[in-house]
Amino acid sequence: MNSEGFLDGHLAQTTLHPLGLRIRRAEGLDLVLEDGKRIMDLISGIGPSAWGHGHPEILAALHAQIDAHLHTMVYGEFHQRSQDEAARLLVDFLPDGLDTVYFVNSGAEAIEGAMKLAKRVTGRKGFIACQGAYHGNTHGALSVSANAERKAPFEPLLPGVSFMPFNDLNGLDAIDGSQAAVLVETVQGDAGIRIPSAEWMAALRARCDATGTLLILDEVQAGMGRTGKVFAFEHFGIVPDILCLGKALGAGLPIGAFVSSRERMRLLADGPSLGHITTFGGHPVPCAAAAAGLKLMRLVDWEAVERSGDRLERFLVSHPAVREVRRIGLYVAVELADADAVTRCIEAGLQAGVLLFWFLSTPQAFRMAPPLNMTESDWNRVWPALTCALDAAR
Ligand SMILES: Cc1ncc(COP(=O)(O)O)c(C=O)c1O
Repeated sequence: MNSEGFLDGHLAQTTLHPLGLRIRRAEGLDLVLEDGKRIMDLISGIGPSAWGHGHPEILAALHAQIDAHLHTMVYGEFHQRSQDEAARLLVDFLPDGLDTVYFVNSGAEAIEGAMKLAKRVTGRKGFIACQGAYHGNTHGALSVSANAERKAPFEPLLPGVSFMPFNDLNGLDAIDGSQAAVLVETVQGDAGIRIPSAEWMAALRARCDATGTLLILDEVQAGMGRTGKVFAFEHFGIVPDILCLGKALGAGLPIGAFVSSRERMRLLADGPSLGHITTFGGHPVPCAAAAAGLKLMRLVDWEAVERSGDRLERFLVSHPAVREVRRIGLYVAVELADADAVTRCIEAGLQAGVLLFWFLSTPQAFRMAPPLNMTESDWNRVWPALTCALDAAR
């Protein structure tokens, strides 16, 4: 690991131990380094590159948009074709009540926008979120995230935020009618891919309805096909009041979105007007990529995605270093003996040519989120390298 100055020393570091790989280009599953070495990206850049790197249809859409125009105006004033198209394609996948899209710049900003919208709709001030949650790193998103150690230096954060257990029917009484919204990752990511029961999800929805609390589902990481359906909530037969998206929505470009009903969203246009303002939200270039990604999404063979996930899971559990695998679709946590085993595995993976990565808050596991369009020949290259990585964890 590279603990020297990041790149040439003028970029802020976020960790004392960045991987420090020097990227020359990226194509399909592969990151190609300056020295020519290829590393298979089995985490899709922590989610965004769900179609692999440099997908020709995404690149073509980007080239066309760049030739047409770049930024023209702050979000919400002009009709811009790629923005309209991305919103229409997104809403086509969504049920009634999730018909209006507010494009922003990131997952965290989608959470911020959703929280502001919930306050505006309900007139309430507080929020409840789940133990184990990760919703982003801006002040609001950090306030509803659970990792106390990571929050402490940045306090005070938002007042009026409480936490309940995830996937525990007994915890739902904490939603008591005082909160504007409950925020839930449909599948918890940073907690190590925690998949709730359909029973809990139904009870959560019912409790929100009974108390007039909005249900915000954070699918910044779990959405856009990652769990084997376009949206993770489709696994559970419920629909949120507000849906937050990011990461893979942009097919490799930065974008986020919060989605709700037209009536609710209308409140951000009035009292005050411009209730959420963003200069670059809905930028035409990320929207062109998003539209291209959404078109690819229409063609996905979901049974093939599940077969890939199932095969990966069977491969992982058959290795003696692996204690447990939690998986939904191609969203995977692999539990090893301890944090040291995880680091050995990730380091050996890089040597062998696969990129695996840590969770922030689940040290004894590593994450995998391979592209949704992995081919047979991709997988055939993965198996030996993944075996080398896991062998180092023993
Ligand atoms: C579930 C979830 N919500 C929100 C975010 C924040 O997204 P961003 O990093 O784009 O701000 C993340 C990022 O990892 C996430 O995993």
